[in-house]
Amino acid sequence: MLLRHDESRLRATAIDPAFRRDVLNGLTARPRSIPARWFYDREGSELFEAITALPEYYVTRTERALLESAVGEVAALVGPGRAIVEFGSGSSAKTTILLAATRPAAYVPIDISRDFLLESAAKLGEKFAGLPIYPVDRDFTEALRLPEALDGAPRLGFFPGSTIGNFLVPDAVDLLRGMATVLGDDSMLLIGLDRIKDTSVLLPAYDDAAGVTAAFNLNLLHRVNRELGGVIPVEAFRHRVRWNDAEARIEMHLEAIRDVQFEVEGRPFALCAGETIHTENSIKYGPRDASVLLRAGGWTPIANWSDALEHFSLILARKSA
Ligand code: AVJ
Repeated sequence: MLLRHDESRLRATAIDPAFRRDVLNGLTARPRSIPARWFYDREGSELFEAITALPEYYVTRTERALLESAVGEVAALVGPGRAIVEFGSGSSAKTTILLAATRPAAYVPIDISRDFLLESAAKLGEKFAGLPIYPVDRDFTEALRLPEALDGAPRLGFFPGSTIGNFLVPDAVDLLRGMATVLGDDSMLLIGLDRIKDTSVLLPAYDDAAGVTAAFNLNLLHRVNRELGGVIPVEAFRHRVRWNDAEARIEMHLEAIRDVQFEVEGRPFALCAGETIHTENSIKYGPRDASVLLRAGGWTPIANWSDALEHFSLILARKSA
């Protein structure tokens, strides 16, 4: 762990070829788009943490309250002694509720934001002395191999936050199937999905008054400038949010306020005023949609919980035979 950490510091200025490829291809494509996973550098992960505390962002507090009230039933259904594997663990803030109630054999947080992952894992280690924690600093969409030390313990996948909503349906199905493969036989999955609801609730959650979500979205351009030597005039862009009803999704875009030209890695790009770069989809699921999605992904729902306003759902599923 220490060795890998040190190596990463030496490589800190090296260009991530996947980031470079996604940005250059995404700025060239029409419509322009950059995958949402690139939001989460150190700054982006911190901005996302700030989003989770916003009054407009009902997602995190609704899910936390839901988990607190459901965790007794979850624990009874999953039983003790499972290895809990969290996909995109971030700050692991909600995980403490699950770890405290389920008496797991181990905890495996997986996240691409390495420093953030290691700090969160260290904090958790203090709280749960004696719990083996194996952080995996990888993209959870990759075909992963779990630490060998886990061999034997049945797994409980934990995929909270409605992160599944960032994936187009075919990709979400592939991801769920990949999770079933990684987690193995007898595994279970506890997943959080955001529900379809009124735009009077949805839109402000992604366009808050304090401008934190705008800063989160615009940080992607700063990241391009920082890591790819870009010269994008970030002030020429603004944060745009729309509800795409046909696709049941919130979309975030970066819209050019004026005609703008810039270079990234020596390649020239030009946007006319009003043109956008699509940066995120956040798909919302009705209860039946969620069940269909899980079944397509190789999981059979066995229990689900929702808040009184039906803003969010937690679903427990078992790997389909
Ligand atoms: C982390 C993907 C669940 O879609 O609600 C929050 C990310 N983007 N505000 C979401 C996000 C803008 C978030 N997820």
